[in-house]
Amino acid sequence: MSVSAAAAALAERLGGRDPRVAVTLGSGLGGLASRFGDPTVVPYAELPGWPRPTVEGHAGELVVGSLGGVPAIGLSGRVHMYEGHRPERAAFYVRVLAALGVPALFLSNAAGSIRPDFSPGDLMLIADHIDLIFRNPLIGPAREGEERFPDMSAPYDPEFREAVRGAALESGIVLREGVYAAMAGPSYETPAEIRMLRWFGADAVGMSTVPEVVAARASGIRCVAVSCLTNFAAGVSPEPLRHDEVLETAERVAESFERLVTESVRRIGGLLEG
Ligand code: HPA
Repeated sequence: MSVSAAAAALAERLGGRDPRVAVTLGSGLGGLASRFGDPTVVPYAELPGWPRPTVEGHAGELVVGSLGGVPAIGLSGRVHMYEGHRPERAAFYVRVLAALGVPALFLSNAAGSIRPDFSPGDLMLIADHIDLIFRNPLIGPAREGEERFPDMSAPYDPEFREAVRGAALESGIVLREGVYAAMAGPSYETPAEIRMLRWFGADAVGMSTVPEVVAARASGIRCVAVSCLTNFAAGVSPEPLRHDEVLETAERVAESFERLVTESVRRIGGLLEG
């Protein structure tokens, strides 16, 4: 299914609104949708060709409205490559956003902490990433409007990152900062893999975000991303990993996460206007 068909269907649902920031909500973090002012909810099922998530904790709908006073679009639920999707399906929604002219993307995810000093429940601003999924969504014929060889020397926008740091400070939220490693999943990592990732320079590990950021950068969309550290990665603590724990921690942090995103979007909206 084509990006343009989905973009046309979504444009119709926007009813003349012009979202400036899109927010992708990770596992257990979908509650942000309820903070949108003047919301219109659009189930993914109503958009042709839109990939639908199958994972618990992902709603499968988007909300159009305003967040922090900024015209925004929230995506509750994304598909991951471990669900059997090709990378371009994981990046499908990003290409729709590009077709609609949305200039900024705020991504969130649940991730495991590789560092003993970054605890479950902490929020981590992503400074940079390491792509260990090894499947790039840009592979294939070059698409119109996309860079063939996008620069990735600053995939997470420095000005937006500063806005998120400022939002955290003002909101009294402790914000870590570090490197996110993306693995294909869906099995969690082994302790040996986590030791390797630490040695590579990663601070957190997850199974999403990177294909979307790659597609966004190819279209010139400016990105920023925050991980909710939901658990210690394998071997960092002696406990086995459970998806339930991921959802429980995300739920516990949801309120401060939502405040952080709302204030960040308000600041990013100001930057886009300025
Ligand atoms: N590993 C990979 N993905 C994750 C983790 C993890 O420990 N926690 C949440 N998503």
